Amino acid sequence: MDQAEQLRNIVRMNNKTEKTEKVARVITVTSGKGGVGKSNMSVNLAIQLRKLGKSVLIFDADFGLANIEVLFGAIPKYNLGDVIYRNKNIKEVITAGPMGIKFISGGTGIDGLGNLNKGQIETLVNNLSELDNLADVIVVDTGAGISDSVLDFVMSGSEVILVTTPEPTSITDSYSMLKAINRNSNYKKSNLQIRVAVNKVSSQNEGKALFSKLNVVVQRFLELSIEYLGAIPMDDSIYKAVMQQSPVSFKFPNSKATRAYEDIAKIIVSGEEEQIISKKGIAHLFTNFIRKKT
Ligand SMILES: Nc1ncnc2c1ncn2[C@@H]1O[C@H](COP(=O)(O)OP(=O)(O)OP(=O)(O)O)[C@@H](O)[C@H]1O
Ligand SMILES: [Mg+2]
Repeated sequence: MDQAEQLRNIVRMNNKTEKTEKVARVITVTSGKGGVGKSNMSVNLAIQLRKLGKSVLIFDADFGLANIEVLFGAIPKYNLGDVIYRNKNIKEVITAGPMGIKFISGGTGIDGLGNLNKGQIETLVNNLSELDNLADVIVVDTGAGISDSVLDFVMSGSEVILVTTPEPTSITDSYSMLKAINRNSNYKKSNLQIRVAVNKVSSQNEGKALFSKLNVVVQRFLELSIEYLGAIPMDDSIYKAVMQQSPVSFKFPNSKATRAYEDIAKIIVSGEEEQIISKKGIAHLFTNFIRKKT
């Protein structure tokens, strides 16, 4: 058996979709342009999903930038680098956050997962498969922009939330991200549900209108489909909460922004049983890396 075959076997063994074992729902939060509200979405969505009774784990895949820990106000002792380079088990690098929300920091030592060698990916896949038993939902916060590393995450998950804002540059960058997904060789329409969340809107209608405009162009020029997830208003309470290193859902539970995150979490949970998309589990996220390496 050569090394490529060995790796494929590991993934096959970790691919639990065919079995009755539990796999986590993996939701990747991404954007074309930076600073549009991904990390706030990831943290507050996680909190709202937790409030709806889900066990949740946040995975900060924005390597090098400690977005989530700063927003959460929690300092992780270990990070994913300790799993890959220093033989820690994945359970040892989980930081317990508020409300029992688990959190894994990507750390600063990993310069994108694309740079890992086969042995390191093997270690990672083996460890990540353990997460399926620890959470109902895994929220993956990515960095901004259409880098290979971000696209790899987006392509490998089964659900994507694309965060955009009404700024013209944000809309064009969102379209560029969709175009990049569309032309990625790993893209299969039936495997990836893409939902758009519009942040910093002045009214709910503004969010819907913006989505409609984007959707017209997408339908005309791309072979993928997008769905509308909802809008989060421009709300000073987000800024104030960030300044105090506490998620807006905790600091200002009755703010407009918090209610918008609540609505989005409800949409995500509603109709969960009828989900057409297959839950692939977290280990599957990395199948593409292995394919590329072999
Ligand atoms: N709905 C909102 N209303 C007001 N301010 C907001 C809103 N959403 C985000 N912000 C502001 O924008 C900043 C950036 O948000 P956030 O860190 O979530 O973006 P990001 O997409 O994760 O950024 P990056 O690309 O750098 O990771 C926040 O610190 C906050 O001040
Ligand atoms: Mg961020």
